[in-house]
Amino acid sequence: MGKLDGKVVIVTGGAGGIGQAICRTLVREGAAVVASDIDLPRCQKLVEEIEKSGGQAMAIQTDVTNKADIMRMVDTVMQKWGRIDILVNNAGIISFGPVAELAEEEWDRVLRINLKSVFLCSQAVMGAMKKQKSGKIVNMGSLAGKVGGIVVSSAYAASKAGVMCLTLSLAKELAPFNINVNALAPGPVDTDMTRAFPPGALDQTINQTPLKRQATPQDIANVVLFLVTEDSRHITGEVIDVNGGILMDI
Ligand SMILES: NC(=O)c1ccc[n+]([C@@H]2O[C@H](COP(=O)([O-])OP(=O)(O)OC[C@H]3O[C@@H](n4cnc5c(N)ncnc54)[C@H](O)[C@@H]3O)[C@@H](O)[C@H]2O)c1
Repeated sequence: MGKLDGKVVIVTGGAGGIGQAICRTLVREGAAVVASDIDLPRCQKLVEEIEKSGGQAMAIQTDVTNKADIMRMVDTVMQKWGRIDILVNNAGIISFGPVAELAEEEWDRVLRINLKSVFLCSQAVMGAMKKQKSGKIVNMGSLAGKVGGIVVSSAYAASKAGVMCLTLSLAKELAPFNINVNALAPGPVDTDMTRAFPPGALDQTINQTPLKRQATPQDIANVVLFLVTEDSRHITGEVIDVNGGILMDI
């Protein structure tokens, strides 16, 4: 018996480093998982792997900035499985550079992909969750959204601060329907995102971290798992730091 038997999950950015770890972890607990990403081939590869190991999964190509795409994704899931229990708003992009050099288009792009997507996807699934009188939404914030961008751009940091604040608004609005909404604020995680950091920046951050390492995608997926099971049924509107203790040193 898994903790998520019978549950249907959508993971946005499901083809990415953290997204894949979340999909695999929730499938292991019995969930049927939709790996949704702009990158369809990587989602399909993941779904093949999950199905081979006996799990239930589906790949859907979705651009999380496109409302029509998101509605299509929700319709497809409802047609196939008839319910949506869990949404993990995980899709995101990184950006670098000081405010003085940040192009307006870059600001808009980062805010659209990282923040507006959380509004659009949450809005799209909440009807189904309200009808079921249960649901879990988990949003991917960031340490940068708490302390401001140092390595990463102001647009990235502001988008993640927005995600964490939107988490609180959603948590208040959806609590009467037995829907929990929480966020994670990870420090650096070993994915393509931190591999794109400017030379030296990652080592410097790890050095500043009391636990002297970056997170693995599995470290993040483990916390997501906690937040989507009944083990955390009385937690809502929380932002959980997963950062090796670095906030103590900033
Ligand atoms: N890696 C880190 O250090 C770190 C730290 C804190 C927070 N995060 C957050 O975790 C989340 C996952 O990041 P990751 O590290 O796995 O990075 P990643 O680059 O491996 O994965 C991000 C995924 O999002 C997808 N994506 C990008 N734009 C999209 C769009 N418009 N529509 C749909 N999908 C889109 C990408 O195709 C990719 O598969 C992001 O929100 C990121 O900001 C990451």
